Amino acid sequence: MSEIYKIHFLPDEQHTKTLAESLAKSAKKGDIFFLRGDLGVGKTTFARYFIRFFLGENEVVPSPTFTLVQSYDTKAFPLWHIDLYRLEDPEETFELGLEEIFENGVCLIEWPERMMAYAPEKRIDLSFFQEEGERKVIVKYLNQHETYEHTKI
Ligand SMILES: Nc1ncnc2c1ncn2[C@@H]1O[C@H](COP(=O)(O)OP(=O)(O)O)[C@@H](O)[C@H]1O
Ligand SMILES: [Mg+2]
Repeated sequence: MSEIYKIHFLPDEQHTKTLAESLAKSAKKGDIFFLRGDLGVGKTTFARYFIRFFLGENEVVPSPTFTLVQSYDTKAFPLWHIDLYRLEDPEETFELGLEEIFENGVCLIEWPERMMAYAPEKRIDLSFFQEEGERKVIVKYLNQHETYEHTKI
């Protein structure tokens, strides 16, 4: 198991945008981003800037809280935005077809805690925090040997 940690402070949305765009720029098919943290810490905001890097700033990016899965077509790969908040049983991840999604596209997953038993070992965990008004995110690269350029961000 290899882990590399980076911490980024996110005092405003511009900082979230800059980080999301730099990760989007080096994203490759098969990359899985776990977006962790409590309600309101900025997970959907990060996903929105990541998706808009590919589709333009006018792209409407709704929170997938109710649909669970939203897909977007980019030139390079299908991009999936998933919110597992409403998942009641981790077994339901199979019904969503996540295994196929993981192989064929780039995935952003909010509330991945709901499927931890089935979490892929190779992934990028972003843990968002908001404490005493200070926002930050810890980016953890798990087993990302062959996509080393991510770890420079
Ligand atoms: N870096 C940031 N600085 C200031 N406000 C932010 C930042 N990131 C997100 N927000 C704001 O926080 C609120 C909740 O963000 P959201 O992305 O919906 O959280 P989550 O998806 O984690 O529940 C929104 O009003 C959003 O504009
Ligand atoms: Mg959200």
